[in-house]
Amino acid sequence: MDPGPVPGSTKGASDVGKSLDVRIDRLLVGPIVSMMLALGIWVDGASADERDGRTIVERECAACHRLGPPAAATFERLLDRTAPDLFYAGTKFRREWLVDWLQDPMPIRYSGVVYLNHLGFEGGKDQIAIDTVQSCSAKLDRERAEAVTEYLMTLEDASMKTGVIEPGKKFSKPKALRLFRKQLPCIGCHTVQWGKRIMGGVSGPNLADAGNRLNPDWVYARIENPQHWDPKTWMPRVEMSHKKRELLTRFISSMKSPARLDLEKPDAVVQGPAVPMSAFVTREAANGSDPEKNYRLYCVQCHGSRGNGRGINDTVGGLSVSPKNHVYAEEMVQLSDEELGMAIAEGGDAVQKSGLMPPWGQTLSAQEINDLVLYLRQLCQCKAGG
Ligand code: HEC
Ligand code: HEC
Ligand code: HEC
Repeated sequence: MDPGPVPGSTKGASDVGKSLDVRIDRLLVGPIVSMMLALGIWVDGASADERDGRTIVERECAACHRLGPPAAATFERLLDRTAPDLFYAGTKFRREWLVDWLQDPMPIRYSGVVYLNHLGFEGGKDQIAIDTVQSCSAKLDRERAEAVTEYLMTLEDASMKTGVIEPGKKFSKPKALRLFRKQLPCIGCHTVQWGKRIMGGVSGPNLADAGNRLNPDWVYARIENPQHWDPKTWMPRVEMSHKKRELLTRFISSMKSPARLDLEKPDAVVQGPAVPMSAFVTREAANGSDPEKNYRLYCVQCHGSRGNGRGINDTVGGLSVSPKNHVYAEEMVQLSDEELGMAIAEGGDAVQKSGLMPPWGQTLSAQEINDLVLYLRQLCQCKAGG
């Protein structure tokens, strides 16, 4: 994987052999270290270099994490991503959380960094192939965690507005939960804790501890325009007022519990064949926008890799209303193409259905949405009205 250019680094963007170097590094580090240990030539005590945050990150983290933009901008590139981008870490994280977490990283993403790489299929529904999901391998002592944090906090996105969320303002939690869970589709992909209940979907990061982890101004900005931070993120951009976004941000920032859904199953789920949608598709839409890829990236998380409405977000409290079964012709014939297009562009709420169906009109172009309608007709092998 190409970890991308390191800002200010002597290793520039034009470093052609870099990805190869990284692989060789990875292959050799193990044997070299054990050889040194065997020969008793392990250097005692850390050199100044080993305590410098930037050096540590470039040496020990850059093989997995991208430290410079641009983020993955094509579908294929996205599938290669092995770890979250860190090039705006200083804008995103709370300093204290980073220092603690880097000493003992707890999982944040139930379904891995790119959920599409960890799908299994069992009992008629998609499951996460848990044993394929990797956690962060950083496990630093306090001194190194502090040095690394110092450096990561310098990786900022200067374009983000700060001071948007004033700390300490009161808000109505029940009202915020209703917004998060009923009117908007947030709970479909994110886990939160309410009292003792842990609930929600799993295709996005667990938010039960987001108040400790994230800078509130960044949370606000991430909701406002997810694609600014990651052009191919499968979180939709949802239009809403400043007041609603602020309420959601306060709600998320109030979550400070390390709770997790227990997804471990007695029988590990076997990873299925790569999402087999192409089995359904006879041809791509003529104009080159790619409905199959869009369906896989944006829709499969809820509607399932078989289109049957049983995606990975179908968990405890994740999807209290079942997503439409897109391969069930008897139901699909009852919706006109206009209705399908409207539901996709404006979301469930706009067509008197569940708000769990997100609006995609701010994320996908009108053409892409039209192509998705054609694609749905291929999935159900049906036309409106029979
Ligand atoms: C073998 C690959 C790998 C290496 C090496 C690695 N990480 Fe990670 N890192 C991951 C993965 C995978 C995740 C996602 C974990 C999750 O979401 O549960 C992650 C998550 C993180 C996060 C949280 C990011 C976010 O957006 O939530 C930070 C911060 C982080 N790593 C820092 C580091 C640092 C610092 C180092 C080097 C000391 C490092 N990582 C080395 C794979 C790696
Ligand atoms: C269709 C799934 C989906 C929906 C719906 C969704 N998100 Fe997300 N969300 C994601 C994904 C995917 C990410 C980023 C994944 C990553 O960093 O690996 C994300 C990231 C976030 C983050 C940053 C979390 C972190 O630790 O990096 C916040 C905060 C967030 N979403 C809030 C919301 C809110 C509020 C809503 C409702 C308006 C919402 N999301 C709706 C999928 C979704
Ligand atoms: C966060 C989960 C989620 C995601 C992601 C999602 N959907 Fe849905 N979708 C739902 C739910 C839940 C329903 C059922 C709403 C109802 O019946 O009240 C639904 C219903 C639908 C319907 C039927 C609407 C109607 O009028 O009955 C269509 C069409 C649809 N989704 C298409 C898509 C497409 C295309 C995508 C990807 C671009 C997508 N969905 C992504 C959850 C989701």
